[in-house]
Amino acid sequence: SSPLRLGIAGLGTVGIGVIKIVQKHAGLLAKRTGREITITAVSARDRMKNRDADISAYRWEDDPMAVATADDVDLYIELVGGDNGIAKESIEAALHAGKDVVTANKALLAMHGQELAELAESLGRVIRFEAAVAGGIPVIKTMTESLAGNSTTRVMGVMNGTCNYILTRMESAGLPYEAVFEEARQLGYLEADPNLDVGGIDAGHKLAILSSIAFGTRVNFDAVEIEGIERVSIDDINRASDMGYRIKLLGIAQMTPRGLEQRMSPCLVPADSPLGQLAGGTNMIVVEGDSVGQIVLRGAGAGEGPTASAVMSDIADIARGIRLPVFGQPATGLKPAQPARTAVP
Ligand code: NAP
Ligand code: HSE
Repeated sequence: SSPLRLGIAGLGTVGIGVIKIVQKHAGLLAKRTGREITITAVSARDRMKNRDADISAYRWEDDPMAVATADDVDLYIELVGGDNGIAKESIEAALHAGKDVVTANKALLAMHGQELAELAESLGRVIRFEAAVAGGIPVIKTMTESLAGNSTTRVMGVMNGTCNYILTRMESAGLPYEAVFEEARQLGYLEADPNLDVGGIDAGHKLAILSSIAFGTRVNFDAVEIEGIERVSIDDINRASDMGYRIKLLGIAQMTPRGLEQRMSPCLVPADSPLGQLAGGTNMIVVEGDSVGQIVLRGAGAGEGPTASAVMSDIADIARGIRLPVFGQPATGLKPAQPARTAVP
């Protein structure tokens, strides 16, 4: 069959990671998918920037829109980021131009996922986003495919590696929040806007996406009750430790008689539990289904290799012809997410 031709916008951590995998595993990917996967066009902001991969064989476009709509691109890979602007516009343009889309953009999906899913489905296209939640952990695929025979009762977990690093390091080094925040900044862990991490917003975006898949509801980020880790003190951590607990930024989504509860906040978890043992920049997602019971997924939630691995899993599925609805079921059939808090008189 004909090659699957990729157009990639965004050549940062994730975009370069994807290019490296396509180059390194070309033969393996062709064997596994039955199709050659090639890159035809790329785009980023600065053409002159040194990149950590050889991109000289690919056509450069200054504008991601040109990649999204190019005749020699079958699949548009959006790795620019941002909850609006060029990321959203280029995805819409790609869909209108008859391309499928893969993105890692959790902020965009949390804010505009419903609209984009409806657009994709109305045009007979697919959008895939395995990398948008918990980086390298295959949680989207697990929930939409492997757990198809389950009604989900609860999904929860640690979804922001930076916060997990900060909280773990505060305890292990006995350092105050401010000192570890500064360390995280110097190590390059923090998002350009650190409030996305420490304010719990990035993790809230991920929880909103998982809730939609878990409960068949429209993504409702505004209904996620969010408290970040900025006010967690070393005293809080030490008191928790004295009682055998650890503090984790934990996301929980569950359907209650009052509606959908979505909470992202610092929580006490037993120190000897799998969540309590989760150290460093790692993520953990716990899914509870009525047939399977509880399953636990753990791994790297960020970084070049893990995130690009998740993007590649979407690319491979599209190469194989797997065309699932965006949130695991048709977007027009998703129910409005009645938030639990507003249902209380
Ligand atoms: P990044 O390193 O900041 O790279 C962003 C890329 O987009 C850069 O190549 C940049 O160009 C390009 N870009 C920015 N604005 C542009 C514009 N207006 N037009 C064209 N190109 C533009 O970001 P990243 O870490 O790779 O993240 C990409 C996406 O993956 C985001 O949605 C992020 O949330 C998501 N994600 C990242 C991770 C992770 O571990 N990094 C994990 C999960 C999901 P220049 O290079 O020329 O500046
Ligand atoms: N800032 C995010 C984190 C990146 O620390 O988990 C991956 O989504």
